[in-house]
Amino acid sequence: MTPRIAVIGSNNMDLVTYVNRVPEAGETIEAPSFEIGFGGKGANQAVAAGRLGASVLMLSKVGDDSFGVDQLRNFEANGIDIRHVGRVPGMSSGVAPIFVEPNGENRIVIVKGANAELSPADIDAAAEDLKTCRLILLQLETSLDVVYHAVEFGRRHGIETLLNPAPAAADLDLARVLHATFLVPNETELALLTGMTVTDEASCEAAARRLIEGGVRCVVVTMGARGALLIEAGNPAKVIRPHAVEPVDTTGAGDAFIGSFAHFYVTTGEVESSLQLAARYAAQSTLKRGTQKSYPTALEFSSF
Ligand code: RIB
Repeated sequence: MTPRIAVIGSNNMDLVTYVNRVPEAGETIEAPSFEIGFGGKGANQAVAAGRLGASVLMLSKVGDDSFGVDQLRNFEANGIDIRHVGRVPGMSSGVAPIFVEPNGENRIVIVKGANAELSPADIDAAAEDLKTCRLILLQLETSLDVVYHAVEFGRRHGIETLLNPAPAAADLDLARVLHATFLVPNETELALLTGMTVTDEASCEAAARRLIEGGVRCVVVTMGARGALLIEAGNPAKVIRPHAVEPVDTTGAGDAFIGSFAHFYVTTGEVESSLQLAARYAAQSTLKRGTQKSYPTALEFSSF
């Protein structure tokens, strides 16, 4: 049986407006199109892994609105175990207004809504199920206490954890996440985490090595169209080459990278080759509009 992956994280309804350009302050402009889709960094990573065939356990919260009902259905449609996804009375579900420009780049605002209610007690309530998982994925769209508790839970029970410190949070206490097995920041997040200047591969590596010295086993710095950099103790840094594509919409590509990496990694136990496959999966996801809508199934990925 494939090892299980747990995702402790957010779900959002993505409200995506495709614009010709972003408006200036005080300006009203017309945009060509709009789409609603499932998103949220936690849910995205869970769905990417699920579409590839992974067994995924989700810990999350939805509001008591129609978006919450839709989110639960979407998790189920992607084969995700939702026994630990709760509904929060009197709260809205998480939403994310997103603007996508013609070159595929995006700007995102998030409203946490019910995601903010996920708590360390929810992790304790799911402890027996979490102990059956090989890897726990974490991001920063829930409270930081949830992230600290999950990293500590993983350390105590010998379960590997991967923290994607996104969106960047200035108040993240680095000392409390250094027991994570994997840290997967982008360059901005890496600079914020370490307080070091990150401008190129050499400075990325120097900052990542600081995290490794602090206890993290493996740091993967995502560099957008330039690929990713893998840094592990005792090994030279390795560049994970990007796949050259003409992106239509890059929203959620980072989550596609992490969710698919989780699947390949728990299946093979290999870090570098799993990152190479994940880079290919993420590139494929930029060729279609939408967040989860653009995530390929195992069959679609095999023919890419
Ligand atoms: O990483 C992309 C995601 O960020 C979107 O789905 C949006 O919901 C925000 O969480």
